[in-house]
Amino acid sequence: MLTLDKLTKHFKDVKAVREVSFTVTGGEIFGLLGANGAGKTTTLRMLATMLTPTSGTASIEGIDLLKQPDRVRGCVGLLFGGDAGLYDRLTARENIVYFARLCGRDEAEARGRADALAEAFAFTEYIDFPAKKLSKGTRQKVALARSIVHDPTVMLFDEPMVGLDVTSRKDVEDFMLELKAKGKTIVLSDHNLNITERLCDRIGILHKGELIAAGTLDELCRSNRCANLEEVFFKLAGRDAE
Ligand SMILES: Nc1ncnc2c1ncn2[C@@H]1O[C@H](COP(=O)(O)OP(=O)(O)OP(=O)(O)O)[C@@H](O)[C@H]1O
Ligand SMILES: [Mg+2]
Repeated sequence: MLTLDKLTKHFKDVKAVREVSFTVTGGEIFGLLGANGAGKTTTLRMLATMLTPTSGTASIEGIDLLKQPDRVRGCVGLLFGGDAGLYDRLTARENIVYFARLCGRDEAEARGRADALAEAFAFTEYIDFPAKKLSKGTRQKVALARSIVHDPTVMLFDEPMVGLDVTSRKDVEDFMLELKAKGKTIVLSDHNLNITERLCDRIGILHKGELIAAGTLDELCRSNRCANLEEVFFKLAGRDAE
């Protein structure tokens, strides 16, 4: 379970995230929607302990982010889309094993997990290629494998489908559903409303750093008198929204 309690981040004058509170339980996928600059990535980076909140806090399975950042870090996996952030000179396998070792896994377990994940994401044939020689989609799959190699309880996905072809997107989608079935707590931020509708149990809308609505798709449509998520989004967070 993941709980955000008035989580806030200011960058000098920019109030990037303002007192955001919500809870995501195990086995649930929570979608985070918002226009460019709404504060989605900043929120996820705080949850992954990469940024210190200005105020407020969050907890994972009751462990407080501010009090025990190291323990929280071990329970969280974060995947960014776009630039996969792999070490170019290491092979796919070495990237995954290295990260697993950083998270305290022993060498044999780390290697076993790397093989299993390569098989799950269909990149076994490239596992000993240096990351710099991999295609964009394969890099993204390796980054995905790396982000979950330590078997985190909370998974944060920030635009994970960017640059992936149709089949690979489906692989990632199926994988998220598997994680959900295993009872993992998942937050997904993606600009694609179809993916958000399809995968997310509840959706939160961030607008200028504030969480202005949260609920199931039905609840959001009903309370805003809209027919679909796109209408809800334009009404609450579109260019003309206040
Ligand atoms: N390191 C930083 N220093 C200063 N300002 C920042 C920093 N990171 C983010 N911001 C600002 O915080 C605000 C929120 O940015 P953030 O990246 O969280 O938005 P986002 O919702 O992820 O947007 P996008 O959909 O474009 O990815 C923006 O105004 C951004 O310019
Ligand atoms: Mg972002």
